[in-house]
Amino acid sequence: MYASRPSIDHARCTLCGKCVVICESNKLAIREKKLHVLDDCAVCGHCYAVCEAGAVSFVALRPRVFKSFPYNGAYFPPGNPDPSIVAGLIGSRRSVRHYTSKEPATETISDLLECASMAPSAHNDQQWEFVVVRDRAVIASLAGRLLEYYGALNRLVANTFMRRLAGLFMGKKVDQYYSEHYSGVQRRIAAAAGKKDLFFYGAPALIVVHSAMDGNSPLENAQYAAYNICLLAHAMGLGTCFIGYASYLLNRDRSWKKRLGIPSAHGVHAVLTLGYPAREFLKPAPRKEYAARWIG
Ligand SMILES: Cc1cc2nc3c(=O)[nH]c(=O)nc-3n(C[C@H](O)[C@H](O)[C@H](O)COP(=O)(O)O)c2cc1C
Repeated sequence: MYASRPSIDHARCTLCGKCVVICESNKLAIREKKLHVLDDCAVCGHCYAVCEAGAVSFVALRPRVFKSFPYNGAYFPPGNPDPSIVAGLIGSRRSVRHYTSKEPATETISDLLECASMAPSAHNDQQWEFVVVRDRAVIASLAGRLLEYYGALNRLVANTFMRRLAGLFMGKKVDQYYSEHYSGVQRRIAAAAGKKDLFFYGAPALIVVHSAMDGNSPLENAQYAAYNICLLAHAMGLGTCFIGYASYLLNRDRSWKKRLGIPSAHGVHAVLTLGYPAREFLKPAPRKEYAARWIG
């Protein structure tokens, strides 16, 4: 078991006090000309990142290693990189629904997971776990399960009487499903008859992000990690798409969770398709007007 606290190399420590100031939980103090670690912490690594002398380290933390592209571990200070690059990247990531048959290399996917784990998380819990599915038979089988599940739901809500009846127990969700998803699911059912998968769009890989539910804000943490994957994937020439249909089903289907090696008590927070885009976008995402209240 790793210590949940920094190790201090006192021979290197200059007692500059920067680590003491940056520590959010006040776990560091300089007393009698010595830096003291007062207690275990959330291992956020802020103290490590401000120490010019290299006196702070964490046994539990390993350096980031990317294998499919060169990265020397450089830190980008505020103001870098150029905001037009960051805004351009964010705006250029799109949900990719057309894939070539080219399979992303193992190193490429490992790098995406590495980047996922750089996301912020409540209390620095970093509880995210990943399942990478590259077996096309498993992807096809899961798409088949989705067809079965949502096909049954569609047959139920297609009937006005059953829709009203289900609405008595489930409220507005039933009407919402009918108006927002019924026709999309029908399209997927029709496509499947022609051997076309419109749940995963023929993607050669899926990344499932899941976690235990007992930490702090597990859903949000995992989704930030998933979004990191989407952004880096775009920069690496890959495409992704969140598949909410699959997350919803996996959270209700114990046998599929088991098949993917996901503990039954875990929540599935994101299912992403992954592959090389077969269609090209030429412009960044337009968006609806948003509401914002400015106070002050
Ligand atoms: C939580 C979530 C679930 C989604 N589920 C699906 C899905 O099941 N199938 C799909 O094709 N797209 C899905 N999407 C993609 C959205 O439709 C897409 O993000 C939105 O239309 C905006 O387009 P863009 O991602 O290209 O900017 C999902 C997105 C999110 C964030």
